[in-house]
This record gives sequence, structure tokens and C-alpha cells, in this order.
Amino acid sequence: MKFEKICTTLKETADLAKKFAKLVVQNGAFVSLYGEIGAGKTAFVKLVAEALGVKERVTSPSFVILNEYHSAQIPIYHFDLYRLENEGIKTILDELREYSQGKILTFVEWAEFSQDEIPFNHIQINVTYEENDARKYSFKAFGDDNISIIEGLNC
Ligand SMILES: Nc1ncnc2c1ncn2[C@@H]1O[C@H](COP(=O)(O)OP(=O)(O)O)[C@@H](O)[C@H]1O
Ligand SMILES: [Mg+2]
Repeated sequence: MKFEKICTTLKETADLAKKFAKLVVQNGAFVSLYGEIGAGKTAFVKLVAEALGVKERVTSPSFVILNEYHSAQIPIYHFDLYRLENEGIKTILDELREYSQGKILTFVEWAEFSQDEIPFNHIQINVTYEENDARKYSFKAFGDDNISIIEGLNC
């Protein structure tokens, strides 16, 4: 199950993030984000967190690896594994798997990590640059609950 949206402005990305937030707030989700630096991965996480009512300022966790927010409608965990080597990421997969369980929302910015290696249900988001500074957000679901979420985006 796939869904794609070209966002020509940050406002359109915010609208997409709001829609996504409504669909994940009930059961949570594990979301992996891919795309070049500056594409709009952190921007999307921030906009989803804001849609879920986060009180703190949402910043990129690239230096700390993990930020967590407990002031929104559901707990939000935001990883940025940019600083880990591919092998390093493999060693923390079991820990990440735990963040895919329960009613929490986990985002992971992956950088180099291979997109088909996550061995548990999740949603993949690829962010790419398009003409005129627009961004394309492409969603792909793994697992029935996540397929329902992506179906919701399509409506
Ligand atoms: N339509 C758009 N959607 C998302 N971000 C956008 C858009 N247009 C411009 N931007 C800007 O692009 C930048 C994306 O940066 P960031 O989200 O930190 O990238 P990444 O986490 O992928 O490295 C932000 O400064 C954001 O304001
Ligand atoms: Mg980022």
C-alpha cells in the first residue's frame, strides 16, 4: 500500500502532517524516514508532533540520537541515526523493535540504512526534492494496521 503527495509549500506539508497525526493517534506507529539532508524529514516529524499537541519545541535529534516528547496526545520518540554506521544500526535493531510496540509514535531518520531491512511492521516515508522547492512525501506501509493508516491518507 502506497501513498504519495507533493507539497509545494510548508503549509501543505503541515496539512498532510495533521491528517497523518489523526490516523496514528489511536494506536501509534513506527515510522522510518529517508531522504537527503534538508529534504523535510525533521520538518514532518515536527509538524506531526505539533498536530498532536506537543508543548516543547521539537528539534532535530541528530546530535543526541533520540528526543522524546511526553506532552502530546501520545508519547513521541524521535531518533536520528545519521551518526551511526550501518553496522551500528544493526546492533540497535532489537532496541528499536521495542519502540515499534505499544501505543507510541516513533520516528527514525535513517540516512544510509537500507530501506527494506526493518524486520517489523512500520511505515516508510521517503522525502524527495521536486521542482520549485516542492517536496514529495511517499508513504509505504508494512503490516495491516499500517496499511489502514495509508488507506486513510488516500481518502
Ligand atoms: N513543502 C515543504 N515541506 C517540508 N519542508 C519544507 C518545505 N518547503 C520548505 N521546507 C524547508 O525545508 C527544510 C527541511 O529541513 P529538515 O526537515 O530539517 O530536513 P531533514 O530532516 O530531511 O534533513 C526546512 O527548513 C523546511 O522549512
Ligand atoms: Mg533531520
